Amino acid sequence: MTTLKLNGRDVSFDVDPETPLLWVIRDQLGLTGTKFGCGIGMCGACTVHLNGRAVRSCILPAAAADGAAITTIEGLDPNGQHPLQQAWIETQAPQCGYCQSGQIMQAATLLQDFPQPTDKDIDSVMNGNLCRCMAYRRIRAAIKLAAT
Ligand code: FES
Repeated sequence: MTTLKLNGRDVSFDVDPETPLLWVIRDQLGLTGTKFGCGIGMCGACTVHLNGRAVRSCILPAAAADGAAITTIEGLDPNGQHPLQQAWIETQAPQCGYCQSGQIMQAATLLQDFPQPTDKDIDSVMNGNLCRCMAYRRIRAAIKLAAT
C-alpha cells in the first residue's frame, strides 16, 4: 500500500511499486490535468510537485512518492486561481493547451527560486518543458506577468 498527500488530501492505493506516478494520478485517482507526452522524462507534460519541487511523474515510480506531498495542477492553488493560471489566461498563453499544466507546474517552482526571473532564468528552468505549438514567447510573457 502506498500513501501520499495529494493536493492536501491523504490518499492510499495499491499498485505495482514500479507503476509511474502519472498513471496513479490519472487512472486511479482521477485527476487528468497532468498529461502524458513522451513517457521518458523529456517533455515535461507530466510535471507535478513532489514535496514542492517539480518532477516528471511519468518516470517516477509510485513507490518513490510514498509518504510525500504531491501537488498537481488541480491543487496548485487551493484557494482559487494561482497567479500563474491567471497570467496564462490574461496573456492567452496556450495554443492547443496540452502541455500547459506541466508548463505551469514548472513555472511555479521557477518563481519560488527566481521571484523576478530574467529571460535567462526562465530559459534555464523551462527549457525541459516542450511546447509543440511553439508558444514559448507567450509562456515567457505569462511568467513575467505572474511575477509582477
Ligand atoms: Fe513525462 Fe514527457 S510525459 S516528461
